[in-house]
Amino acid sequence: MIEFKNVRSIYKRNNHVALDDVSFRIEDGEFVFIVGHSGAGKTTMTKLLLREMVPTSGSITVNNYNLKKMPKFKVAKYRRSLGVVFQDFKLFPQKTVYENVAFAMQVVGTPKALIARRVPAILKSMGLIDKAKNIPEELSGGEQQRVAIARAIANTPDIIIADEPTGNIDPQMAAEIMELLVWINQKFGKTVVVVTHAENLVNTYQNRVIRLDHGKVTSDRVGGMFE
Ligand SMILES: Nc1ncnc2c1ncn2[C@@H]1O[C@H](COP(=O)(O)OP(=O)(O)OP(=O)(O)O)[C@@H](O)[C@H]1O
Ligand SMILES: [Mg+2]
Repeated sequence: MIEFKNVRSIYKRNNHVALDDVSFRIEDGEFVFIVGHSGAGKTTMTKLLLREMVPTSGSITVNNYNLKKMPKFKVAKYRRSLGVVFQDFKLFPQKTVYENVAFAMQVVGTPKALIARRVPAILKSMGLIDKAKNIPEELSGGEQQRVAIARAIANTPDIIIADEPTGNIDPQMAAEIMELLVWINQKFGKTVVVVTHAENLVNTYQNRVIRLDHGKVTSDRVGGMFE
């Protein structure tokens, strides 16, 4: 469960109000788009969710964690309950596809035997098993994005957050990436939050869309068509 309650987020440097009285609740297993123009506050929301910053006022609760009151030493553990897919993938360029996914599991202390079992299974389900020994630069943009998704689900997080997951790839790949995220949502019941400005993508799905405009939620409903 993700809950924003009257969240205001002000950047102190310039007193810019990036989020203004934002409230919503996302239940477990939902698939939600967060959309809005450039500067609407989408990345600010992602940063708040990852606890890279705390709101100026209001509260954010994620799976019973109160993010505002969370002490620093608990942040790492909290982040492990999230699977994050970044626009620029953030893959390790020198590591193979296999190693990229395995590494995410190693750093949280997963037993070797489990890693050896789980990584091939994930790569297979993502259609990446033939690429296991390749490094990222030997893959297409869409394939790299799939590795990023494979890594995001490796530690069986409850929530997947994807920030512009289709930003740097062609439309057909973008559609495939979206299908993968939908599949992860349906097959594993994970909560998926996709942050994007790509209206065309959102409109092809009958999912909940939370629309931000200059830091305020201007609509929150199923289906992405304009008002
Ligand atoms: N570190 C910062 N300091 C001051 N202002 C900031 C900072 N980061 C973002 N902002 C401002 O806050 C507003 C929201 O920014 P944010 O990055 O959340 O927008 P966005 O919806 O992600 O836009 P985009 O689609 O372009 O990525 C913008 O007006 C931006 O200029
Ligand atoms: Mg952004």
